[in-house]
Amino acid sequence: MLNYAVIDESKIDFVEIAPAAELPTGERLFVDLGEKPIVIFNIAGQLFAIGDVCTHDDGPLGDGTLEGHNIVCPRHGAEFDVRTGQAVQMPAVVDIPAYPVQVRDGNIFVGIPK
Ligand code: FES
Repeated sequence: MLNYAVIDESKIDFVEIAPAAELPTGERLFVDLGEKPIVIFNIAGQLFAIGDVCTHDDGPLGDGTLEGHNIVCPRHGAEFDVRTGQAVQMPAVVDIPAYPVQVRDGNIFVGIPK
């Protein structure tokens, strides 16, 4: 399971996603990187990227409600911290991937393992 609470940039490729202007505060952006569905959140001006698939039963996490930094799965209510991917509420017990995000020259980049 991927988790980038601690970032080792020698093991990550940053992929350009979109202009940062396309993701204003309070919004979310869905992207597919290869076969990885990812959702990026702008929470109070900070960007967080996670895998868009719940580890409980493949629910569409990005369609869920944000409660602070927790995303609530719309299917059965599991919660994950979008900062780390950590599962913090049953019924999910397995973390989701969390990816590092950077903004360079006004564009969003998401870090994917090499
Ligand atoms: S699929 Fe997400 S809580 Fe069940």
